[in-house]
Amino acid sequence: MNFNYFTENLLRWYPLNRRDLPWRETRNPYIIWLSEIILQQTRVAQGLPYFHAFINKFPSVQALAKAPEEEILRTWQGLGYYSRARNLHACAKSIIHEKNGKFPDNYKDLLELKGVGPYTAAAIASFAYKEQIAVVDGNVYRVLSRFFGLDVDISSHQGKKAFGKLANEIIPENTPDEYNQAIMEFGALQCVPKNPNCQQCPLHTRCHALQNGLVETLPVNEKK
Ligand code: ADE
Repeated sequence: MNFNYFTENLLRWYPLNRRDLPWRETRNPYIIWLSEIILQQTRVAQGLPYFHAFINKFPSVQALAKAPEEEILRTWQGLGYYSRARNLHACAKSIIHEKNGKFPDNYKDLLELKGVGPYTAAAIASFAYKEQIAVVDGNVYRVLSRFFGLDVDISSHQGKKAFGKLANEIIPENTPDEYNQAIMEFGALQCVPKNPNCQQCPLHTRCHALQNGLVETLPVNEKK
């Protein structure tokens, strides 16, 4: 399939519509990792003050590794899912003491960090190191299923595999970081779950869901 229409329009839309978020201004893997762990079960608006508090108190992976666990948990207070904070600390200590202070610098090694799954590893690998590996989260399922009419069940193993395969066929070689940010932002701001404004959408002339009246039914999620 030719993905040019999709990628070109998405990459044109992104710089005109993106939110300025502090973790988008850096290639520092520590800062990107921290932001992605905070955002795992947390909305951007709620996560932002915590992100700033963490960067101020623990500006580097060394600082985080050295900090007492109580201080990390205190800074995390109110965010919930405290295992995320404990995993952050465990990972920082392991990077400092077992990996000579070297932050993992590719998808495969990032996946070995506690609390880092395929989505988070892809986010860090692409944003920090420009590795060509697609992020696949709820926003990505929605955008891809609607535009391409991919109607496999996203709650099934087979469905997840199909979306991962498509996403990794689309991601461009030169700007995988921009592309990943763009598709997530597009899902968050334009191709939203309920009542998206399709007349204003830069992809509307070729969107499968719009042309077939499926905007409200895609993505398919049998577990919902
Ligand atoms: N949610 C998870 N990761 C994000 C990111 N990098 N930017 C905005 N929202 C996000």
